[in-house]
Amino acid sequence: MAGFPSLRPRRLRRTPALRRMVRETTLAADDLIYPIFVRHGKGLRNPIGSMPGQHQWSVDMLPNLAEEVAALGIPAVILFGLPASKDAQGSENFAEDGIVQQAIRMIKEHVPELLVITDVCMCEYTDHGHCGIVDERGYVVNDATLEILQMVVASHAAAGADIVAPSGMIDGAVAAIREELDRIGAQHVAIMAYAAKFASSFYGPFREAADSPPQFGDRTQYQMDPANAREALLEVALDIEEGADIVMVKPALPYLDIVAKVRERFDRPVAAYHVSGEYAMIKAAAQHGWIDERRVALESLTAIKRAGADLILTYYALDAARWLRDGAWQ
Ligand code: PBG
Repeated sequence: MAGFPSLRPRRLRRTPALRRMVRETTLAADDLIYPIFVRHGKGLRNPIGSMPGQHQWSVDMLPNLAEEVAALGIPAVILFGLPASKDAQGSENFAEDGIVQQAIRMIKEHVPELLVITDVCMCEYTDHGHCGIVDERGYVVNDATLEILQMVVASHAAAGADIVAPSGMIDGAVAAIREELDRIGAQHVAIMAYAAKFASSFYGPFREAADSPPQFGDRTQYQMDPANAREALLEVALDIEEGADIVMVKPALPYLDIVAKVRERFDRPVAAYHVSGEYAMIKAAAQHGWIDERRVALESLTAIKRAGADLILTYYALDAARWLRDGAWQ
């Protein structure tokens, strides 16, 4: 390959039009999924302290929010529920009139074209705050948890969910969920698996948002060790074999190597979750005036897409869609 002076990469960076013409990655509203926290009550839009700009919503507020999301061209939301009460099994998680079931129906009734994804996990619903059934030694029992997850997805499908997203890193969850959805005639409901979900401290702000901190210990017996990449590929392979339609890597920015490897290795849509801590860090630095929020947020999302993500779950979805609509950012 000839080098300088015949090759001058700066030639194609000279003007905005040239840069636009050769840009390899384009972020669009189509790529984004907006997480929404729902709680019991009326007329509520409670700010989440650890995530400035994000709120816990009561169900009656969802039609307006869903319309706003859809109007911005964002195809999907993912729902997280805060139950009225918690117990060992997380009963509200699979109740017909549970908070998420109500939210699904409300959104589907008012904005049917907006895709509703549900997070399928037990930690927000259990009194111990773990993502499964816990035995007397504090161990999350795998196969007993699968039966609960089956009840949860059946109730979500009955309420009208389009996609279910198991997030507990319980072995065999995707197979158990696919089997149950098919058994009840919900073959059309897709599975977006949190396939490579790491035991990350970047989830800190979410635990205030969803009121879901573990009451003892941590999640390292089921979520992945941040040091492991090969194991992430095993997790993704297993979930695809079990029937996952979309596979997710979480968190996003600190795990772009995983996103890139999954993209390279598997022919399935890949999602990445730009998590609460990633969001909160940008917000906090921006509030100090240390960084330009808009540019840093869009750069982050573009980098996640460049690494290979087709879809990005992000608390920045609404802002990003507005910024993209209102003009190029670079
Ligand atoms: C539930 C769940 C969590 C997140 C998504 N689903 C919390 C956790 O695993 O502790 C984190 C999302 C975020 O930090 O934005 N299991």
